[in-house]
Amino acid sequence: MIIENKNILITGVALGGIGEAIMNKLIKQNNQVLITSLKMSGDRFPGIKSFSSDCTTEKGIDRLNEWAKTECGSIDIIINAIGGSLASKNPLEINPAFFDRVIKVNLTSAILLTQMATKVMTTGAIVHIVSSSAYEASLDKLSYGVAKAGLVYYIRSMAQVLAPQIRINGVSPTYVFTDRHNRELKKKSEKTGVPFEDLSSQRITKQLLQYPLLPEDLNEMIEFAAMTPLMTGKILDASLGRIF
Ligand SMILES: NC(=O)c1ccc[n+]([C@@H]2O[C@H](COP(=O)([O-])OP(=O)(O)OC[C@H]3O[C@@H](n4cnc5c(N)ncnc54)[C@H](OP(=O)(O)O)[C@@H]3O)[C@@H](O)[C@H]2O)c1
Repeated sequence: MIIENKNILITGVALGGIGEAIMNKLIKQNNQVLITSLKMSGDRFPGIKSFSSDCTTEKGIDRLNEWAKTECGSIDIIINAIGGSLASKNPLEINPAFFDRVIKVNLTSAILLTQMATKVMTTGAIVHIVSSSAYEASLDKLSYGVAKAGLVYYIRSMAQVLAPQIRINGVSPTYVFTDRHNRELKKKSEKTGVPFEDLSSQRITKQLLQYPLLPEDLNEMIEFAAMTPLMTGKILDASLGRIF
């Protein structure tokens, strides 16, 4: 099931990330693709219609909405890849400002984008990238897990509000070897002296399938979540059989 001949907005498109991987595929399949991120610059992805917006604020979303309407008229599919844990923290040292920031980036942005969808779509689909942190206790990323668990609840609930015109689903990956994660592992390896390969394999030991997940591996699942007419309010699991 592939997405073709659609108007698509992809949010959170960073170099070597999940958003970029799906963008590259969708461009080849004859879709009109718009992309956005917080600090998007024209030279990040030359030749692609891009816009810089803060999707955690109503003002940022209004600007994005106006831009998308001007560029495309209407949107068929939104793929939301905004998010991140921002930092590791001792659970007992999470302060309200940090917690609020993580919630805004991972949950508020998804809520505002979903509301925006009702203004730029008559029918179509929204796919949010969730995380296996929504289901498991990764204690140093507690705020992130709470935000993503909130996103799961939000997706399930909003399916009832948006149906039958708009479907809303999520794709929930485990650790993905994005460029950003590879840079972080390299830094950690230099700091600790633990080889990069060992740090990488530690990331997959809890998965039954023992496979280093790459951003492009999620493309099929994202397309299925967007295109199947049979499903809304569901989270597709890309945890490689992770044992919770
Ligand atoms: N990588 C993983 O292992 C993994 C695993 C499970 C789930 N996920 C989820 O998958 C999604 C994509 O992850 P990724 O690792 O590919 O991400 P990434 O490379 O870190 O990119 C995150 C994107 O979010 C954008 N962003 C952050 N704050 C924003 C804001 N206020 N308004 C608009 N955009 C904002 C960033 O913009 P700028 O680039 O302009 O800063 C960036 O494009 C996220 O939701 C993440 O939580 C990732």
